[in-house]
Amino acid sequence: MKGITRRLVLSYFLIIFITVAALEIFLITALNKYYYSNMQNLITNQITAAADFYNNYFSSSSLEKNVQDNADIFWKNTNAEVQIINKSNKLLMDSIGYFTDESINDSDVNKALHGTLGVYITNDRNNMYKMMYVSYPLKSMGQIEGVLRFAVSLSDVDNTIKRVTNIFLLIGGLVIIISGMIGIFLSNSIVKPIKKVTVAAKKIASGRFNEKLDIQRNDEIGELSSTFNFMAEQILKNDRLKNEFIASVSHELRTPLTSIKGWAATIKAGNLEDKAEILDGLDIIEKESDRLTLLVEDLLDFSKLISGKVTLAKDYIDITNNIRYIEKHFIPRANRQKIHFNVKIEKNLPLLYADSNRINQVIINVLDNSFKFTDENGLVELSSYRKGNNVVIKVEDNGIGIPKEDLPFVMDKFFKGKSNLSKTGLGLSISKEIVNLHNGHIEIFSELGKGTQVYISLPAEDGEMI
Ligand SMILES: Nc1ncnc2c1ncn2[C@@H]1O[C@H](COP(=O)(O)OP(=O)(O)OP(=O)(O)O)[C@@H](O)[C@H]1O
Ligand SMILES: [Mg+2]
Repeated sequence: MKGITRRLVLSYFLIIFITVAALEIFLITALNKYYYSNMQNLITNQITAAADFYNNYFSSSSLEKNVQDNADIFWKNTNAEVQIINKSNKLLMDSIGYFTDESINDSDVNKALHGTLGVYITNDRNNMYKMMYVSYPLKSMGQIEGVLRFAVSLSDVDNTIKRVTNIFLLIGGLVIIISGMIGIFLSNSIVKPIKKVTVAAKKIASGRFNEKLDIQRNDEIGELSSTFNFMAEQILKNDRLKNEFIASVSHELRTPLTSIKGWAATIKAGNLEDKAEILDGLDIIEKESDRLTLLVEDLLDFSKLISGKVTLAKDYIDITNNIRYIEKHFIPRANRQKIHFNVKIEKNLPLLYADSNRINQVIINVLDNSFKFTDENGLVELSSYRKGNNVVIKVEDNGIGIPKEDLPFVMDKFFKGKSNLSKTGLGLSISKEIVNLHNGHIEIFSELGKGTQVYISLPAEDGEMI
């Protein structure tokens, strides 16, 4: 046994052992008390009855005389050994014939000589078993004459106590053994699944992402295992997305590269005299290089954003200015694509404490999608308004929309739709990272064939201006 099993079993064992031991000590003490006090009550009843009897009917003669006259009927109703002792602690009579010259100074006798009941427990004369002595005063005309003393062996009582004690100990031992076994069973039921999780985690760590746990339980372990499976699924999904992403990036890179290489080869093979053709070629090479640069920049930007290496240059900004600037930027594109482009900004919007360029980047990414996925004569609307403590920037279009099954994933890194206008699938994930860095939210609603609404809400900075 080691680790958690050992700790669990040891603590179970300790708790049960302490409980059982405490219970046994209590029971055994109570048992002893019960039997002894029963015995004492019995003898006390007998001795007081006998002494009363004597005090009522025999006290006209002296104690010595009564003993000589064998006036012994008053103590005949007991099985105990009976002694009669006089005022000076001398034994006058013993029912089993024991005799001693020495004065008897045991505490019970002395107590009785002082007028009260005395009880004394000691070993018998041969040291074989315990004896209980009970003494009671014998009186004549209210004066103490001597002591009536009953002595009983406690060997039967002690044997009974011993027998019951043994039964208690046996039961206690059994309880400890059984609960120890239950402890081992219980801790195994905790430790075994944990081991399974560890083994599976090691497999995943070594790159086997298909690993699944099969622990069907309705408790924390079950939760752990389903969380684990969820994690494994996410890793698998990320891995797949990454591979798809690498494939699509390579594809994206290859198209401009092919064209650049093609034109370079054409120019080289030509006679270098058709200047117009050379300029056309160089023009395309320049444009394609720009596209490549943009793509590579996007990728770098994204990797910086998700690895948390970006520091925001935050300042107090009036979002109205940003939106006006972006509007100007998009008007030529709207005209070119014949799309109605509306911009509505609520008056007196509160300031935002934000990185202006990054916020522009978010709005441009989202707007770019709307323009990309909306056909001629469509409508794209950019609006901004206050809602509670937030400034909301809403981008709405009546373009192709997003299929229901894609909607939960559009903001995932590398996710792109099936449309051939879809590019790297980074735009929305970059936007989401940026909005999160500003403690804002981004939400997307869409219906296939009807259009899409994106809500970007950012916390306003009311009252916190310096
Ligand atoms: N307004 C929209 N209308 C329809 N589909 C959209 C819209 N916005 C996003 N999508 C879908 O979500 C996908 C992910 O968008 P995202 O902006 O992240 O990537 P992308 O536009 O394909 O590539 P990138 O923005 O990196 O050039 C898109 O490929 C598209 O399928
Ligand atoms: Mg996009």
